[in-house]
Amino acid sequence: MAARIIDGKAVAAQLRAGLAARVAAAGYAPGLVVVRVGEDPASGVYVRNKDRAAKEAGFASRTIHLPEATTQAQLLAQIAALNADAAVDGILVQLPLPDHIDAQAAINAVAPEKDVDGFHPINAGRLASGQPGLVPCTPRGVMHLLAGTELRGARAVVLGRSQIVGRPMAQLLLGADCTVTIAHSRTRDLAAECSRADIVVAAVGRAEMVRADWVKPGATIIDVGINRLADGRLVGDVAFDEVAAVAGAITPVPGGVGPMTIACLLENTLDAAMARRG
Ligand code: GUN
Repeated sequence: MAARIIDGKAVAAQLRAGLAARVAAAGYAPGLVVVRVGEDPASGVYVRNKDRAAKEAGFASRTIHLPEATTQAQLLAQIAALNADAAVDGILVQLPLPDHIDAQAAINAVAPEKDVDGFHPINAGRLASGQPGLVPCTPRGVMHLLAGTELRGARAVVLGRSQIVGRPMAQLLLGADCTVTIAHSRTRDLAAECSRADIVVAAVGRAEMVRADWVKPGATIIDVGINRLADGRLVGDVAFDEVAAVAGAITPVPGGVGPMTIACLLENTLDAAMARRG
């Protein structure tokens, strides 16, 4: 039996179309500002894609690109100005930042109600304590992809414990009544943990680590990984072909979780705008 392929590209397009309709009806263009510091090449691509998707959906989007030599004080002053700007609903500080800047200090400086990344400790704390707040975009996107999957009582294993994906992902699954295990690089037997799961979310950044014999037949496999192989191929954290022969449903890479992240950034920005503007 071949797994159902979960088409993140299609789900993201549908979500973006719905958001565009809600923006058109709102009577204002929600304001999103992406702050980029320095010249990390991958960030350049990500930031352009975010800006394009936001404009297409009717958001007032702009990018502030600061030079590599920007000091931490200058970056914090820029964030403070955006916090105080009533036209700005969402602020995203693109990571990674240059080494001389304390990324956590920058994250902590964003007003929690404009923190569309959901990285601020206030938003992380709200999520952990079951209160409404802004939720990190990638885990939020995964929850959309799991919309057709029975979550109540399901065993979910999250591979990876990052602030951006693993930890918030586990909180969202817990909030949806899954029995959640967070596994990571120090877990004694990753394969054994994984093979008990009805739902696996892989977010470790190791190419094709999850193999067919790690997967319970019929399980739902969500692959957050994006890894570039030496031959140039882009693969996830899951060995797609062999796992698809065992799983019940699986996300491809590319075209699975990736497109959902930007769509959920827009969803967070509209949520932030509606909460601030009433
Ligand atoms: N760099 C890679 N992914 C992300 C993300 O989701 N948010 C931010 N701010 N930076 C990133």
